[in-house]
Amino acid sequence: MFNQKNIAFAPEEQVYYPDISFSARANVRDARIYDWAGMDYEGYWAEEAKKLHWYKTWDKVLEWQHPFAQWFVGGKINACVNCVDRHLDSWRRNKAAIIFEGEPGDQVVLTYQDLHREVSKFANVLKDLGVGKGDVVTIYMPMIPEAVIAMLACARIGAPHSLVFGGFSAEALRDRIKDAAAKVVVTSDACWRRGKAIPLKQNVDTALTQCASVEKVVVVQRTGSEVYMEPSRDLWYHELMKKASAVCEPAMMDAEDILFILYTSGTTGKPKGIVHTTGGYLTGVTSTHRNIFDLKEDDVYWCTADIGWITGHSYLVYGPLANGATVFMFEGAPDYPERDRFWELIEKYRITLFYTAPTAIRLFMKWGESYPAGRDLSSLRLLGSVGEPINPEAWLWYHKHIGREKCPIVDTWWQTETGSVMVAPLPGLVPTKPGSATMSLPGVFVDVVDELGQPVKAGESGYLVIKKPWPSMLRTVYKDPQRYVDTYWSRFEGMYFTGDGARRDKDGYIWVLGRVDDVINVSGHRIGTAEVESALVEHPAVAEAAVIGRSHELKGQAVSAFVTLREGIAWAPELEKDLKNHVAKKIGGLARPEEIICTWELPKTRSGKIMRRLLKDIAEGRVLGDTSTLADPAVINQLMQQRLTPK
Ligand code: WT7
Repeated sequence: MFNQKNIAFAPEEQVYYPDISFSARANVRDARIYDWAGMDYEGYWAEEAKKLHWYKTWDKVLEWQHPFAQWFVGGKINACVNCVDRHLDSWRRNKAAIIFEGEPGDQVVLTYQDLHREVSKFANVLKDLGVGKGDVVTIYMPMIPEAVIAMLACARIGAPHSLVFGGFSAEALRDRIKDAAAKVVVTSDACWRRGKAIPLKQNVDTALTQCASVEKVVVVQRTGSEVYMEPSRDLWYHELMKKASAVCEPAMMDAEDILFILYTSGTTGKPKGIVHTTGGYLTGVTSTHRNIFDLKEDDVYWCTADIGWITGHSYLVYGPLANGATVFMFEGAPDYPERDRFWELIEKYRITLFYTAPTAIRLFMKWGESYPAGRDLSSLRLLGSVGEPINPEAWLWYHKHIGREKCPIVDTWWQTETGSVMVAPLPGLVPTKPGSATMSLPGVFVDVVDELGQPVKAGESGYLVIKKPWPSMLRTVYKDPQRYVDTYWSRFEGMYFTGDGARRDKDGYIWVLGRVDDVINVSGHRIGTAEVESALVEHPAVAEAAVIGRSHELKGQAVSAFVTLREGIAWAPELEKDLKNHVAKKIGGLARPEEIICTWELPKTRSGKIMRRLLKDIAEGRVLGDTSTLADPAVINQLMQQRLTPK
């Protein structure tokens, strides 16, 4: 009855239909939305864009000069005004925009009026520091309200922000500051992690020894840790804010002006600066947030992602705030002080919409259901998943123990590059199957194709592509348009290549299988194998390195490294530890290899290409695939033996 495509699901298949009471009041109830958006996607997105505040509407919806898109050409808009100012002329101004709880249990509530004041003040601070339209501001912050304030302040004055996840190392931070040529860095003294203050400002100091573009650093006091303040460069946030005016005229931005840059790992050693612009991005995130999460005025919405990732940008900041939502923001870890911290927070704040990652769900599963069982989770009405394929066991556990079999689950497939969700069920309309993100959203054209770009038959696997432009798509790679063309638009004629493999089942449902390129998905975060390899070979003991992602029970994938050593260096457990630390220092803790295997030679083809496929088989303990192209089969024998030797 709620099956808009009239699919005859096989009786043995596990299909979860939207609950009638949910469907009856869902934001999207009419399945014909798929058809009409499919027939006229420009018209569909223009209707969605009209729900935002524009100073001037566009002259043309889409200018498509393959593969470069411009959306809402000629339109004038400001993202901050849409997320803040436009909620002030109704009762919403007194609604909580952000409810924050810090790891130590401290709380902050900012109404939209409060947010407007703080953002305006910080926008003036940035202006006083010389930041103008087009100047990049790097934000290296923990999950605290000031991070959101800094983002929106940048948007207010037309300064693109570039967030760097707080878990990244000083060197990774340096590379991102340099590439973006940031003028100002906003950071905090430190952040709380399981009761300890983890320094951030110190990493900024290290990074800035090599970043000439940075003129000022603004430091938020979070933990009270002692930090060094460079007199000519570093300023305290609270001191600047004391003097700042709360009146700041927003900049009228072009729809295609850059809203932000966000770096993500690719198949080469150098992270790509993904460029998102203002009008299209905001249209995409606002529309999808409203429809997929079925956002209602009185919802309390919690997205557990860090603002340093795209999920935080789109579904913690821009989408929900543009919709006038109440966003819950949490600084801490799920197991501190106890393993029920998340469930305690859901009970305490009566969270209604909860969006998290499969890696977290698997961790909760491992800890056991007694933790959520001890809390009142009855406020929840919808659950979301993002970051990697969700295995059916985790889906079912989430459904039963968190959703108490009442909440629809929206598994959302998307990427830093897509800006907003592309594949997900509309919860009032689409029956779900555990493990499948279901189908393209209205106005989005995702498909699964074979090597030649032809759609695969039902039941077959292939490559996940997107066939038409969409408003929140990346516009380019920062300062590197050629890389944009090569990475995304060269594999299949006229199609955007996602880097993912997928299967289409007999009902047309999409099952994302994971990356098919040299990108590893560790706990929902992207790590480029090339980045880890280049970190390893920088170490004086290492001659050559090959890095692969192997399946991991909790993280989805784990980084597995194979190395050969330089002449005269002997393998030892201390060296393995040292190499792991070296990678963590170079990139960040996320990239730390799970294991490092030393070998006298890496398996290569006769033309010298490393056969990662075999390394993966070895790491996952599988029977080896085709070894006929190996230059020296003895290499594999040795590695296999090593596998069998218990460490
Ligand atoms: C890659 C993008 C924007 C989400 C956060 C990660 C994988 C993401 C799903 C999902 C299967 C997923 C893909 C994608 N991925 N969501 N629901 N099902 N796979 O953003 O770092 O840009 O990574 O994450 O492999 O390509 P990202």
